[in-house]
Amino acid sequence: MSHPEFASHRAGQPSVDRALADARSRIDRLDVPSLEAELGFRLAEVMAFYEGELAHRFPLSFANARRFLTQLAEQLPLSEVGTFLLCAQGCDWRTTDYFFDEAYRGTLTGRLQSGTLPLFDYLFFFVFPGLRATYERFGIFQAQIQSRTRDETCLASLPCGRMRDLLTLDYTHIRRTIRLVGIDKDPAAVDGAREMAQGVLKENGRIRSEWHIGDALRPGLTEPALVKAFDLVTSNGLNIYLTDEQCVMFYANVFAALKPGGVFITSHLVPPAYYQWDRVNRHHWQLQALVWKALINPLWESFLKPAETVRAQLERAGFVEVQILPDSQGIFPTLIGKAP
Ligand SMILES: C[S@@+](CC[C@H](N)C(=O)[O-])C[C@H]1O[C@@H](n2cnc3c(N)ncnc32)[C@H](O)[C@@H]1O
Repeated sequence: MSHPEFASHRAGQPSVDRALADARSRIDRLDVPSLEAELGFRLAEVMAFYEGELAHRFPLSFANARRFLTQLAEQLPLSEVGTFLLCAQGCDWRTTDYFFDEAYRGTLTGRLQSGTLPLFDYLFFFVFPGLRATYERFGIFQAQIQSRTRDETCLASLPCGRMRDLLTLDYTHIRRTIRLVGIDKDPAAVDGAREMAQGVLKENGRIRSEWHIGDALRPGLTEPALVKAFDLVTSNGLNIYLTDEQCVMFYANVFAALKPGGVFITSHLVPPAYYQWDRVNRHHWQLQALVWKALINPLWESFLKPAETVRAQLERAGFVEVQILPDSQGIFPTLIGKAP
């Protein structure tokens, strides 16, 4: 069976058993000193710190690096997000949305308090600096979009995923109408967004919604093309999986889809050298870096770039007055560009 290509995750993933077997055999073949040289820290350092944190709660042994990594890998399938990352090396619409879904987070918090939270749900939702930055970024985007929600405007989310970014804003001040448009390459994502919208739309008759299956890398985005259609486009979770060339193509397509004066809100993961290190927990970052490098190999890790590079790419696509809004750890800055 053939699968559509998604930039954000591998479709047609191996089974969990296969992915876990692959991870085990990669760990068996691992040259620990080379891994340490790449990471820039010793595995013994990470294990010593986490022995105190985790040994009493999870079946992990801390005496041998390969054994530790294998046991870590075996914990991944106990978390839904962990399972998806292990198999697909990225996040689809459903997995990404868990990070911003307060009800899901509430369930995990309950399990954390009762001591039943799987290790990787604990690490992904409460510990890893990169994923905590993702959560903070969501709030930064929403504050920026909220301040631009006006009567008779048209806001788009691309890729929309479940479109929680637009669907959970406050529209009670809208007196006439506002249009929300979701575009995603995955028909299942569009269905998920449409379903989530049903609750919101029932409560506010002034919101109009529209859904498109589209490709951000294709000029016009959809057939027929969306040209000068939007006052605002928000985009999370696509450019971090794209090459520089694809980013410029994507930004140019968004630029063409914006009305004059329209705004594009996006973000990018930056390399560790650009972090606000006095605000990042170095132990937590080390474990995150180890999990990414030795167990998951996420697709986004190949495309990290400084915010200034993203600014230059947005400017190349035609955007002006590009602002950079950092998150507190400096990991996932938001960028806002304007179409003149
Ligand atoms: C990481 S998720 C982000 C979803 C949403 N923006 C969010 O924050 O919840 C990535 C999304 O990109 C979509 N996608 C991947 N490649 C795409 C492309 N070329 N054009 C449009 N959407 C794409 C996937 O279907 C998926 O829904």
